[in-house]
Amino acid sequence: MRKGILFCFVWAFAAFLYGQNPLQIPQLITGTVFNLDVAEDSTQFLAGTKTRTYGISQSYLAPVLELHRGDFVQMHVTNSLNDTTTMHWHGMHVPSASDGGPHTPIAPGTTWSPAFTVLDEASTLWYHPHLHYHTAEQVYWGAAGMIIVRDTFEAALNLPRRYGVDDFPMIIQDKSFDSTSNQFIYEAMSDTMMVNGTLNPELEVPAQVVRFRFLNASNQRVYYLGFPPNISYMIGSDGGLLEEPLPITRILLAPGERTEVLIDFTGIIGNRPLFSFSSEMEAGISGGPSGPGGGPGNPLDGVDFRVCNFKVVPPTTNPVTTIPTTLRTYDIPNAQNAAKIRSKYFDVDLAGYPYYINSTPYVMEYVNDTMRLGDIEVWDVINYTDVAHPLHLHDIQFHVLEFNGGPAPDHMRGRKDVVLLQPNDTIRFVTQFTTFADQHTPYMYHCHNLFHEDGGMMAQFIVLDTAVSGHNDASGYGSRFSLYPNPTHDIMYLQDENVGEERISEMLLCDLQGRVLVSPTATVGAGPHQINLSEYPAGMYLLHLRHRGGGYTVRRLVRQ
Ligand code: C2O
Ligand code: CU
Ligand code: CU
Repeated sequence: MRKGILFCFVWAFAAFLYGQNPLQIPQLITGTVFNLDVAEDSTQFLAGTKTRTYGISQSYLAPVLELHRGDFVQMHVTNSLNDTTTMHWHGMHVPSASDGGPHTPIAPGTTWSPAFTVLDEASTLWYHPHLHYHTAEQVYWGAAGMIIVRDTFEAALNLPRRYGVDDFPMIIQDKSFDSTSNQFIYEAMSDTMMVNGTLNPELEVPAQVVRFRFLNASNQRVYYLGFPPNISYMIGSDGGLLEEPLPITRILLAPGERTEVLIDFTGIIGNRPLFSFSSEMEAGISGGPSGPGGGPGNPLDGVDFRVCNFKVVPPTTNPVTTIPTTLRTYDIPNAQNAAKIRSKYFDVDLAGYPYYINSTPYVMEYVNDTMRLGDIEVWDVINYTDVAHPLHLHDIQFHVLEFNGGPAPDHMRGRKDVVLLQPNDTIRFVTQFTTFADQHTPYMYHCHNLFHEDGGMMAQFIVLDTAVSGHNDASGYGSRFSLYPNPTHDIMYLQDENVGEERISEMLLCDLQGRVLVSPTATVGAGPHQINLSEYPAGMYLLHLRHRGGGYTVRRLVRQ
């Protein structure tokens, strides 16, 4: 009996240290009401003493939230920590007051309950605290989770989407443990890999097409993931699907970034370990040969190491066995119609630290940029420092137009909200500030190296509603349509007389608080289209119209 216990203990210890542990798959929760509890707990990572951790409704990390485009969702985030926190929906297009940045703190013992419409397309997003000076620490301790957005367009494609069967979350992090107490050591560059909170993970993958959703939830370390050639395809980046599957062998993944990958394991027997080829990373990248590393001898710096083992097992029933040839088309805002070209640069304090954006340390009370609702903007960004920084913008997704004077490299294709700039890199991207305006609560943009972010490499912008302040047609589009009668008691008719690029492609009805009343409705043809205001209280509403060429118009509607 005693021998048995001892044996079990030794076996468990050996498994923790040397063996492989089945990759944990976080619980998937779905619906329209989400109760999330951020709390301190402890987690059994190593044999013996548990490790003190943070988690969201679980001891470490969080359930994966499955959201559906068009749903109106109610979040309840309870802070059970002894510290203030916030909860940010990274990658989501929500009103700034619901975005969970540093301006919406949740005091200990209280619950924050934002509600919003899911406007995002099918994508892999995530959520994490964003309290100024404390983001790195709270995320490191474990407060972070993945969001999977699904929509009807993606649902019609022949892609794997059975969660935990042929569609897997892969939340990649590095951690350090104190060898005597098993506790986390909080440091910028750690020495032990984890996926979904599993040390030394192994995942059984069926011999068919399998989908992986990679999220780099590390504070600073960048990974250069290697994939088996000829059977691996990148299908999505931060904000949704690519136009077509892209054959890949390597993907650079910086903190905050996501990428979706298909691997066709059909006919494969045995193991296909997933490595980070960090020895191949270029100048200034954290964890690469010439970038910031951890302490001397950190076993993950500048070398190739295993992230997870994939063990191929027999296929499931109804497997996906083919890689689609095309996925979607983009609706990229037309840079020719940009209302503004904004220039940003990364630099460093004379003391050699911290890093800043445009030489300006982050100040909560200072608004760095003001955008007009509907405007298309082009951003030019250059990195004047000697280390790489992942730049992240809230509120919107952007498309990279130019990178170092050439086209976007593979890992910068598609809809992006994080891009890694190495020393001297220049990038030009286009975006559009649609739907939400709020003169009181800013959105953030910052370096997603969480230590740099907390150190002041962050800034903020507000979006002003030009329709409310008396201007509209910010991008010069949409003069040829009519709304009648306005005011109305019930039905208002929209007649679109535009042609070509100016034709309306989508409309959205919001109230003045930015709450979306009618989700994106694709409008086809000239109309007339009916907008029914009878179910809403008397007052002013905003009709957001997107034009085919990327133009954007906001009009005031009055319900009598
Ligand atoms: Cu992942 Cu400002 O956030
Ligand atoms: Cu974000
Ligand atoms: Cu940085």
